[in-house]
Amino acid sequence: MNETEDKNIYFYGAPLVLFVCYDKTVCWQHPQTGKSSGETDAAIVTTHMMLEAASLGLGTVWISYFDTEKARELLNVPDNLVPVCMLSIGYPADGFRKNLTMSGNRLPLNKTVFYNKYSDGV
Ligand SMILES: Cc1cc2nc3c(=O)[nH]c(=O)nc-3n(C[C@H](O)[C@H](O)[C@H](O)COP(=O)(O)O)c2cc1C
Repeated sequence: MNETEDKNIYFYGAPLVLFVCYDKTVCWQHPQTGKSSGETDAAIVTTHMMLEAASLGLGTVWISYFDTEKARELLNVPDNLVPVCMLSIGYPADGFRKNLTMSGNRLPLNKTVFYNKYSDGV
């Protein structure tokens, strides 16, 4: 593996990578749990970015596997911004095929959708 491949390994050679963060000083906090809505808000925003990219014929990959502190330092991100993911964006390569090793293990619907109440049977 050469240096260029090494740098791009988690970005799949995409020419554009967005770094998605939320501002922890302005997020809504659940009054009972104190949990911030930041992760949820950022996930919704990122999903919409992915849908918009797809509508423009672009491919995206949601990337969580990166060194948060190194990225923060390199990009000069202040402490109030909490990194959530990176989104690599680019035109899919010719002959692109979905990587089933990464995303082929979907659970059947009856393991993830329950009617009226949760059930671990069936
Ligand atoms: C929360 C989250 C984190 C992910 N992190 C990575 C990652 O770090 N590296 C990567 O190559 N893909 C990552 N992916 C992308 C998945 O490997 C996969 O390509 C994507 O979920 C599409 O699969 P699907 O079509 O089965 O939904 C991540 C996806 C999600 C939802």
